[in-house]
Amino acid sequence: MKENVVHLQGKTSDLIIQTSPAVEILYWGDKISGVDAAAIQAVRRAVPNGRLDVDTPVTISPEQGRGVFSSPGMEGHRQGLDWSPVFNFKSIRQDNNNLLLTTEDPIAGLRLVCELNLDPKTDVLQVRHTLTNLKPENYQVDRFAVTLPLPERADELMAFHGRWVREFQPHRVKVKHGGYQQENRRGRTSHEYFPGLMQGAAGFSEQQGEVWGFHLAWSGNHRLRSDVKTDGRRFVQAEALYFSGEIVLAEGESISTPWVYATYSALGLNGMSHAFHQFVRDQIVHFPEDKPRPVHLNTWEGIYFDHDPEYIMQMASRAAELGVERFIIDDGWFKGRNNDLAALGDWYLDTKKYPNGLEPVVSHVRGLGMEFGIWVEPEMINPDSDLFRAHPDWLLAVDGYQQPTGRYQYVLDLQKPEVFDYLLERMDNLLGSYDIAYVKWDMNREVVQPGHDGYAALDGQTKALYDLFDELRQRHPKVEFESCASGGGRIDYEILKRTHRFWTSDNNDALERQHIQRGMSYFFPPEVMGAHIGGRHCHCTRRTHSIGFRGLTALFGHMGVELDPVKESAEERAGFTHYIALHKQIRPLLHSGKVVRIDHHDAALQINGVIAQDQSSAVFLFSQLAMPTYTLSGTARFDGLDPAKQYRLTVLDQPANLRTGGIMKKLPLWLEEETTLSGAWLAKAGIALPVMDPESAMLIKLEAV
Ligand code: GLA
Repeated sequence: MKENVVHLQGKTSDLIIQTSPAVEILYWGDKISGVDAAAIQAVRRAVPNGRLDVDTPVTISPEQGRGVFSSPGMEGHRQGLDWSPVFNFKSIRQDNNNLLLTTEDPIAGLRLVCELNLDPKTDVLQVRHTLTNLKPENYQVDRFAVTLPLPERADELMAFHGRWVREFQPHRVKVKHGGYQQENRRGRTSHEYFPGLMQGAAGFSEQQGEVWGFHLAWSGNHRLRSDVKTDGRRFVQAEALYFSGEIVLAEGESISTPWVYATYSALGLNGMSHAFHQFVRDQIVHFPEDKPRPVHLNTWEGIYFDHDPEYIMQMASRAAELGVERFIIDDGWFKGRNNDLAALGDWYLDTKKYPNGLEPVVSHVRGLGMEFGIWVEPEMINPDSDLFRAHPDWLLAVDGYQQPTGRYQYVLDLQKPEVFDYLLERMDNLLGSYDIAYVKWDMNREVVQPGHDGYAALDGQTKALYDLFDELRQRHPKVEFESCASGGGRIDYEILKRTHRFWTSDNNDALERQHIQRGMSYFFPPEVMGAHIGGRHCHCTRRTHSIGFRGLTALFGHMGVELDPVKESAEERAGFTHYIALHKQIRPLLHSGKVVRIDHHDAALQINGVIAQDQSSAVFLFSQLAMPTYTLSGTARFDGLDPAKQYRLTVLDQPANLRTGGIMKKLPLWLEEETTLSGAWLAKAGIALPVMDPESAMLIKLEAV
C-alpha cells in the first residue's frame, strides 16, 4: 500500500482515501480486499481529449481552481479576493478509524480541516469540515459543504417532500445528467425537505440493492444536492444554507459544517436503516435513564386550550386506568393563553385557570404513578403578550421591516443575551418548581428575515437554540425533551442529541400516519418516533378509523394517546387499554430490534416489522392501506431471520371482521392451525397473506422454538 493512501475498514463497508496530490475519496462501498499500490493505480482515470490536460480530482472539498467545473465544496471571498482556493494536503492524524485531515491554501489564507470517522460497529461515516481564516482581513463564506463521491452506477435517488400534517413523503428521481437539489430556507429543519437522501443503483428497494444514505444533522436552513458531472462522476453535497453576509470570519476565526452522517448498504434501504438506527441508539440519542419509553397521554386534541385543573385530574385518572405512564399537559396552561392569538413569551402559570397552582395537578398525576410532562414554545412571542409589550426589540428581525406573523407569532432573537437569559431563567424555573419529567418543546412558525443587529443570523440562532438546550439539560439532566415543530418540522440528528423524542406529525389519521411513519423510519428508530392513537374521528382529515387500525398504527413508535379519555366511550377505552397493553408487551422488541420494511408487489398492502437482534423473535404488521389490487394479497417473505431456526407463527391482533366478515371463503391455513416454519422458508417462500379490508391491519409474531 502507498503511504498516501488510507484504508478505513468498517464491518460491512470500507473507505479508501488518497491524501496527495489532493485529498480524494477513491472508494466507498462494500468491503474490499487486495488494496495495494497496483490496485490504486488501476483506478487512475484517463485524461480525455477536448478537456483540461490533466486529471481533475473531485476532492473532499471540490475546487474550481483545480479544474472541477461542478459545484465547489466552498465558496467565499475577501472583499472580492481569495475566491478560488485550492486546498493542498498538509497533514493527517489517524486514530483507528478516526481521521483528521488538514489542508491549506497559503495564497488565499485559508485552512480546511476534515474530521472523518467510519464507525466500525455500524458503518456510519461521520464527516465535518472546518474552515479557518488565516489572514488579517475578514473572509466571507457564502457556501461550505461536505462532499462525498458516489460511483457512476448510483443513478437513482430517493428523497422526501412534505408539508404540515403530511411529512416524510418519499419521491424518486433518476439522476443521469445534471443532478438534483433541495433547499430549505424556512428557518427550521422543515416539514418540506428532510435533510437526508438515498442514492443507489437503479431499482434499489427495501430489501435489495446498493444504497448510500446521507443525513445532514442540522436544524436550520440547508441545501442537499446530488451532481452528475459531464464525465459521469457523481457526488452528493450537504451543507447549512447561509444568507448573504451571514458568515464572516475574522483572522483566526473558524466555521464548521454540520455533521454529515452517511452509510453504505449492500442490503437495500433496510441495511441502511439498520446502520443509522444502531448509530442513533449508540451515539445520538441519550436517554437520562435506561427504562422503557413510557406510554403518553397528551391533552392537546382532548381539550385544546380549555384547561380546568379538576377536569384535567379526571383525565389523568382515566389515563392511568388505560395504562398510560406519562401525562402531558399541552398548550394553554400559562397566563392569558386561551387561544393561539396571545401570550407566547409569558411563561408564568395562568392563575385564573389554576387558582391553586399547578402543584395539585402534578401531585395527582404523580400519585397515579405517572410521570408529568408539560408543553412550551420558548423561541416564540405573540405581539399580544406582556413580554412583547415590554420588549418589542427582542424579535429576530431586521429593523424597519414589517415581517409577517406565523400562527400570530414572531421569533425571539436567541443571540441577544437578555433574551437567552430570560428564557433560560423561565424554563429553569418551571423545571425547578415542579416534578416535571418531560417537556414538549414546540416551534410553530417559519422564520422570515432572521436578523441579529441587522445581519442575517439564522446560523447563530440555530446554535443559540442548541446552547439553550445544552444549558437546560445540564441543569436538569433527568428531564426528557420532545422536539416538536407543528408536528414534524424539526426532526434531525443534531436536535436529537439534545432531545429524546419527536412529535412526528400533527396528523393522527392512521392511514396518513402509515405513510409518514414509514418515511421517518428510514433514518429514525421507533423509540424516538412519537405515535399516538387519536380519536375515532381524525381532527386533521375528518376520516374515521377503527380502533384496531389506529391502535396497530401507533404501536410501532413511542406510543401514546391524544384524546380526552373522560369523553371516550367504554368501548373505545377498552380499545386503548388493549393496544397500550399490546404495545407494552412487545415494546422491548420494538425499541431495540431491527426495523424491516418488506418489498411487496402490491402497494395497497404495506408490511413492516421488527426483528430481535438475536433473531429469536419478530413482529410483523400487515397494513391494508387501500383496496387490494388483486383478488389475492400474495405472499410475504421475511428476511433477516435465522435460516436455521424454526419459528412459531402467532396472531397478536387482527381486524375484527377477519374471520367473520365474509372477506374470504377460507383463511390461509396458517391462520387456522398451529404453524412452525424455518427462517429459510420464511425468507425464500414466505406465507400466504389473508385478504383484508382497506384501512385495517393485522399483527403477527414469529418466535423461535
Ligand atoms: C403545535 C403542536 C401540537 C400542539 C399545538 C399547541 O401545533 O404540533 O401538537 O402542541 O402546537 O398549540
